[in-house]
Amino acid sequence: MMSEVKKIAVISGDGIGPEVVAEALKVLKRTEELFGYSFETEHALFGGIAIDQKGTPLPQETLDICKNADAVLLGAVGGPQWDNNPKELRPETGLLAIRKELGLFSNLRPAVVFDCLKDASTLKPEVLEGTDLMVVRELTGGIYFGEKFRRQGDQGEEAVDTCVYNVTEVERIIRQGFEIAQKRRKKLASVDKANVLETSRLWREVANRLAPEYPDVELEHILVDNCAMQLLRRPSSFDVIVTENMFGDILSDEAAMLTGSIGMLSSASMGEGSYGLYEPVHGSAPDIAGQELANPIATILSLALMFRITFGYEDAASAIEEAVAEVLNAGHRTSDIAVDKSKAIGTSQMGDLILAAMKK
Ligand code: IPM
Ligand code: MG
Repeated sequence: MMSEVKKIAVISGDGIGPEVVAEALKVLKRTEELFGYSFETEHALFGGIAIDQKGTPLPQETLDICKNADAVLLGAVGGPQWDNNPKELRPETGLLAIRKELGLFSNLRPAVVFDCLKDASTLKPEVLEGTDLMVVRELTGGIYFGEKFRRQGDQGEEAVDTCVYNVTEVERIIRQGFEIAQKRRKKLASVDKANVLETSRLWREVANRLAPEYPDVELEHILVDNCAMQLLRRPSSFDVIVTENMFGDILSDEAAMLTGSIGMLSSASMGEGSYGLYEPVHGSAPDIAGQELANPIATILSLALMFRITFGYEDAASAIEEAVAEVLNAGHRTSDIAVDKSKAIGTSQMGDLILAAMKK
């Protein structure tokens, strides 16, 4: 029996986005051949390229395509040519809007130290040993989305950003944290700044109120500054970190860098249910775009995450992850993770090797 056709909205975006997405689409095709799944892909413009062609970073048509799909695969957006644009004409504004419009309140960013890449990190290998953590970042609230304005104060111009969280927003993301921890090593670090911020005090109250519903999970409260420090000191002791939007933005970059291989890290942004947007953690890297230098692994692993989380295609997800591991273990490296850069392989070569390694 043919499986149901799943719809994937594909957003290549800017910089290295199109190159890495192209490799993931080759993997997608191979998955259809190997496992009999069928996918329908629809491409959509988003980010800088959409500003250039449509005059807005998030055209309505793109939003419709995404809403119509079962999942979204995103490359990366942004680049220096749009950095000085007014706010409405910046790729980042589109990114915040798409998160809000698609209701993607939960951003999952795993940071895993791949054993064969331990040397790629700036941290000592013995500190990193066994690091495998997941940052669960609130994505549609807090200071990112609070009221912002300028005004005249007593001493001239002032700028105001407000940070607002309601109980519902806090509760649903902390529940995600607990639920993800239940499927992992059952440790949840709830990160806040409850010694200073009212939103953080609410956060902590909610976490404590929910904790009895998840008796198998060990809950730890940790202040964000201390967490930043402990991530460098004892990264392997963390399992799941749940935190608000801006703390999560900062801590997830720190966590990604622990691994030394940001070109390998995938992420998922989820709402209620199985719908999700999947993208590599790395950005659009305009400086290396179009030169066959980008590492496609993060995007390919993001596709594997989509198969697992949105579609429940565990066989296909593992086949991709095992193929990636096999290729890395055989010593193949793109230049971002190569020790000897002269032996590095290109973007499409890496994609081809992963395809060839995929098995049913
Ligand atoms: C991220 C990015 C975005 C964010 C920027 C580009 C708006 O840093 O996805 O982490 O701050 O959320
Ligand atoms: Mg960020």
